[in-house]
Amino acid sequence: MARDPRYDVLFEPVKIGPVTARNRFYQVPHCNGMGRSYPSSMAAMRRIKAEGGWAVICTEEIEIHHSADHSPWMGGRLWDDGDIPVLARMCDGIHEFDSLAGAELNYAGMMSANRYSRQAPMAPSHTPVASFDPLQAREMDKSDIRNMRRWHVNAARRAKRAGFDIVYVYAGHQLSTVSHFLSPYRNRRSDEYGGSLENRARLLREVLQDTKDAVGDTCAVALRFSVDELMGDIGFTSEGEGRDLVEMLAEVPDLWDVNISAWENDSATSRFKSQGYQDDYVSFVKQVTTKPVVGVGRYTSPDAMVSLVKNGTLDFIGAARPSIADPFLPKKIEEGRVEDIRECIGCNICVSGDHNFVPIRCTQNPTMGEEWRRGWHPERIAPKSSDDTVLIVGGGPAGLECASALGQRGYTVTLAEKSSELGGRVTNECQLPGLSEWGRASDYRAYQISQMTNVHCYLESPMTAQSIAEFGSDHVVLATGARWVASGIGRENPMGIKTSEAARVLTPDDILAGQTSNGPAVVFDDDHYYMGGLIAEKLRHDGVDVIYVTPATEVSTWTHNTLEQHAIQVRLLELGVKIITSHNLNEIRENGVVLHCGYTGKATELECNVCVLVTMRNPVDDLNVTLDVSKFKSVTRIGDCFAPSTIAAAIYSGHGYARELGEPQSDGVPFRRELPALAGDFLQEK
Ligand SMILES: Cc1cc2nc3c(=O)[nH]c(=O)nc-3n(C[C@H](O)[C@H](O)[C@H](O)COP(=O)(O)O)c2cc1C
Ligand code: SF4
Repeated sequence: MARDPRYDVLFEPVKIGPVTARNRFYQVPHCNGMGRSYPSSMAAMRRIKAEGGWAVICTEEIEIHHSADHSPWMGGRLWDDGDIPVLARMCDGIHEFDSLAGAELNYAGMMSANRYSRQAPMAPSHTPVASFDPLQAREMDKSDIRNMRRWHVNAARRAKRAGFDIVYVYAGHQLSTVSHFLSPYRNRRSDEYGGSLENRARLLREVLQDTKDAVGDTCAVALRFSVDELMGDIGFTSEGEGRDLVEMLAEVPDLWDVNISAWENDSATSRFKSQGYQDDYVSFVKQVTTKPVVGVGRYTSPDAMVSLVKNGTLDFIGAARPSIADPFLPKKIEEGRVEDIRECIGCNICVSGDHNFVPIRCTQNPTMGEEWRRGWHPERIAPKSSDDTVLIVGGGPAGLECASALGQRGYTVTLAEKSSELGGRVTNECQLPGLSEWGRASDYRAYQISQMTNVHCYLESPMTAQSIAEFGSDHVVLATGARWVASGIGRENPMGIKTSEAARVLTPDDILAGQTSNGPAVVFDDDHYYMGGLIAEKLRHDGVDVIYVTPATEVSTWTHNTLEQHAIQVRLLELGVKIITSHNLNEIRENGVVLHCGYTGKATELECNVCVLVTMRNPVDDLNVTLDVSKFKSVTRIGDCFAPSTIAAAIYSGHGYARELGEPQSDGVPFRRELPALAGDFLQEK
């Protein structure tokens, strides 16, 4: 199909200093939990984005010197020449498709605790490091500043040798030493590097010029800068020093990559911000520079992208998450297939891999991070290896993904869903406050299978062991989901919670089905992801007085991994939810509950009409028990029906089943690994 001419503007080449991007799609820097430790995985992931049409593909933060070491975080590294080949592999893959490779060089200073290198970190002024390590960053003297500038130049030269076309100076997110110098609240110096904005910007200006002098003949020099820190006058604002800085350095970099800070504001989730949430902050930038500008804001709509270019907000459509959810987004627009775009749902599961030092994962794109180690391509899949037929019971995220991927392989698939709608838990949960974009996870898949003549979908079709046997498919896949338990069994109470018969106990499933409380409610969150906080929020919207209780020390503690914890706690506090942390719920009575302090064991009684238990889910797997498996070539449980987890895990499970059906299986590790090469002599003396 030909692309819609409305989108032509997105495919215009744009010059960035000495290089030219083939279109306006720009993958801004994003870490991926693979970086230097799983370099083939990282390179394959970036290469596929080039194949998918992104004209510029950047690295994540790259450490430039051992005195700013982010270990154990798996970012990029250019400490010496030994680090060049890893990044060269990435550049080679990107160049195969005529895209440009960008390197985000960074000296992280007080943001890095140097746990591996054991060097003393540095900062503009003496300060504890940002993590809770018992360690201070020491104030840089003039020779430290000269050294840091030289290290940046060395790294820029190495980046050029690795094959990069764009070299970054990073002054974003308050994650770099140049941004710490810029900062009025971190820089307490009284020399020419402190005080006025001109002085605080001196190091940035010098590093930019050094980089241009070193590599500017063939590489573009980009500046990533957060124009607003959303801290009011204490930090940068887009009307104050953020704007002044852009005006001051307007023509110095070859490209402005602008956003807001801190990281959780920049990568805000859909629960809190909609597409385009940064536009108002960055729109001034193009008015004060003639250099190209890239900005971000979870852009997935081609129409929104066109208006950003046409109304003079941006030259490049920057994307981290939209490029993760759909590495082929540009190509789909180019080929006139916009309805095939797998839109990011804004859940930030992608951030969780990086936070935990393991390869990136994505709710929408089950192949993310699996490109090299499993050979999974986001758009291509091996054709079927037999004419076997498959019956999938359950049209939630796992069942839908399984049907879609099997259908793509050419299998004849029947999907039976007992309710009147596809989507399962996604359809239910996206009714919760702020989660409407999550519906994309089922909408995308429902649309895909609606286009396939070999996938037959039946709604309002509850299946029994007998009807499954009568249906007579070769393979049966059970994707019947899971349900929250009302017993209180969970992490903190493995034997459940003592409950009076007269007590009113609800689960998230009950709340999602429309039940509520006619008096004060206690929400007990022993799950720690989004559900407990959201149930509290929903009940508050229903006008219920809510007490949120958790054994953790804060609300929804796992959501640090999705950058949401702070925002969730603020939201609950602002809604008037009473929060009790570090307490277990030990007993539920007719008109109240008994809590125990997790430290002292001291008991507290609370009055309430309803207690909502958010502790764990049990698989809905009765069919697995009652089916006569000898009648089929295989019976397999996938997603929550097998092991309740995230929506991302359910989709991954459905996808994995589809990839593996009919393929040889073994007891071996199901993916390729990147093992360390042993270096030099053991205990070699210097
Ligand atoms: C998983 C992930 C990792 C990121 N890592 C980096 C990074 O290493 N350096 C950086 O400057 N920004 C990083 N970011 C921020 C993105 O570059 C981007 O500015 C932000 O996500 C907003 O863009 P988006 O809405 O297109 O995702 C990261 C974002 C995500 C989601
Ligand atoms: S994990 Fe969620 S936020 Fe991240 S790219 Fe995928 S869909 Fe988007």
